[in-house]
Amino acid sequence: MSLPPPQLPAHPEFVVIHNGIITNYKDLRKFLESKGYEFESETDTETIAKLIKYVFDNRETEDITFSTLVERVIQQLEGAFALVFKSIHYPGEAVATRRGSPLLIGVRSKYKLSTEQIPVLYRTRNIENVKNICKTRMKRLDSSTCLHAVGDKAVEFFFASDASAIIEHTNRVVFLEDDDIAAVADGKLSIHRVKRSASDDPSRAIQTLQMELQQIMKGNFSAFMQKEIFEQPESVFNTMRGRVNFETNTVLLGGLKDHLKEIRRCRRLIVIGCGTSYHAAVATRQVLEELTELPVMVELASDFLDRNTPVFRDDVCFFISQSGETADTLLALRYCKDRRALTVGVTNTVGSSISRETDCGVHINAGPEIGVASTKAYTSQFISLVMFGLMMSEDRISLQNRRREIIHGLRSLPELIKEVLSLDEKIHDLALELYTQRSLLVMGRGYNYATCLEGALKIKEITYMHSEGILAGELKHGPLALIDKQMPVIMVIMKDPCFAKCQNALQQVTARQGRPIILCSKDDTESSKFAYKTIELPHTVDCLQGILSVIPLQLLSFHLAVLRGYDVDFPRNLAKSVTVE
Ligand code: F6R
Repeated sequence: MSLPPPQLPAHPEFVVIHNGIITNYKDLRKFLESKGYEFESETDTETIAKLIKYVFDNRETEDITFSTLVERVIQQLEGAFALVFKSIHYPGEAVATRRGSPLLIGVRSKYKLSTEQIPVLYRTRNIENVKNICKTRMKRLDSSTCLHAVGDKAVEFFFASDASAIIEHTNRVVFLEDDDIAAVADGKLSIHRVKRSASDDPSRAIQTLQMELQQIMKGNFSAFMQKEIFEQPESVFNTMRGRVNFETNTVLLGGLKDHLKEIRRCRRLIVIGCGTSYHAAVATRQVLEELTELPVMVELASDFLDRNTPVFRDDVCFFISQSGETADTLLALRYCKDRRALTVGVTNTVGSSISRETDCGVHINAGPEIGVASTKAYTSQFISLVMFGLMMSEDRISLQNRRREIIHGLRSLPELIKEVLSLDEKIHDLALELYTQRSLLVMGRGYNYATCLEGALKIKEITYMHSEGILAGELKHGPLALIDKQMPVIMVIMKDPCFAKCQNALQQVTARQGRPIILCSKDDTESSKFAYKTIELPHTVDCLQGILSVIPLQLLSFHLAVLRGYDVDFPRNLAKSVTVE
């Protein structure tokens, strides 16, 4: 029996590559659906592809240029984006544009280029400012498209968000400005724009990057993990940017606002993740319970599934994942969706499976994390969950002082993180003392228990030392047996409601000849009396202290791994995205 020939999918008329977020994609989608356009996914990116098709289908003249189509499309888009378009209607052409998201063009040529500057050409007549495609008909542009040769057929162009992606092909790049429209046709690049740029520069220079690939990517750091640890003052700020209003003491997470009423009515919150992402849930559980006044369960995705945990339609389930692709977390998400719970993604990867499949979500905006050991994603996940709690509690009169205190604390975090990072040398010296050890215990409780779990995970995954995060309240129930003068113990003791209980644990440790290395507050003279060594940290609000206390442990694990001669960024047996159960 012969089989029928396979059905090949029809070639799409327009292809778009998109980095960023289109915030008004739902409105555009509604409009396009009303015009008969069908969608195959839930993504904002598909809306762009359909929108350009709509603009093309409704063109007034046959000879409309590709860049004009793109210009019309971006007039309708809100949000941040870098886009590259291709189309079967314009063979051999590509058009790229950006707003808010980075985009550069790599230029590789066998021969000397005829110019090092690409002039920016402006439309002779401004396009009508079409605010809303649903209401206004677009006017035809009558200006010419502007092609300007920078080379000949031997020129190749590369589009990328970051130089690191193309540096192996060329170190010659043109950085685009917001709203530049760059068209490549016939081996030539041209740039035009409707609005004058802020810099008002009449041309875009082809710049020669002096750095090597490694340098561009890692800067002056020896590993991505180290770079990412030191990026935290900025990544944490980026997580809050545009969301926390420090003047009005309010927080707005755009991805959740439409579901807030439903979330407020829920029976409980279930926060699910794996590894470091799970620790972010543990770290914020108490403040979420306090601010939302709801029961909060934190769950390891694999265990949650193994137990067939009961989930109800009035539960709200959060899925925390840096990559957005972790198999266990994704399966837990599908499990909760099947039970009709509202699902919320907290990811660092726009367009990832978890961000696509959840009902709503928060993008943590930490920037790409390349080191396998998660660092800056943890602090940004932490802050995202705190912001959620703050948004939920906005109308609770009794919580206003507490909210103000936390928001005030958020504001000073980037500066305090810098202060903690300045302890790097001291932590390096500590690593010199510890790196030959086989084991390292990390102990604490309350708001800082998650710091111990996360610190121990960092240590074990990149240094291959045995390390355990111990809840100080459990000390007498077993772990105390491990304590003697040889066993290195790090204790996290902060000036918070658990301070007195931590002092008790400290006494237990010193009474067994333990020599504790204490992470404590700067003004804590009490703990330091019993310490073998102290690392003194700046003080912040109790529920945010974990963001500061985890950083010395990130740094310590990094230095230990380097001293032990291991590849910090690619630890053995581990992958950045765990896409299998
Ligand atoms: C540890 C680490 C892992 C991940 C875990 C979940 O440093 O990176 O424990 O946190 O594999 O990954 P995501 O967050 O991508 O779901």
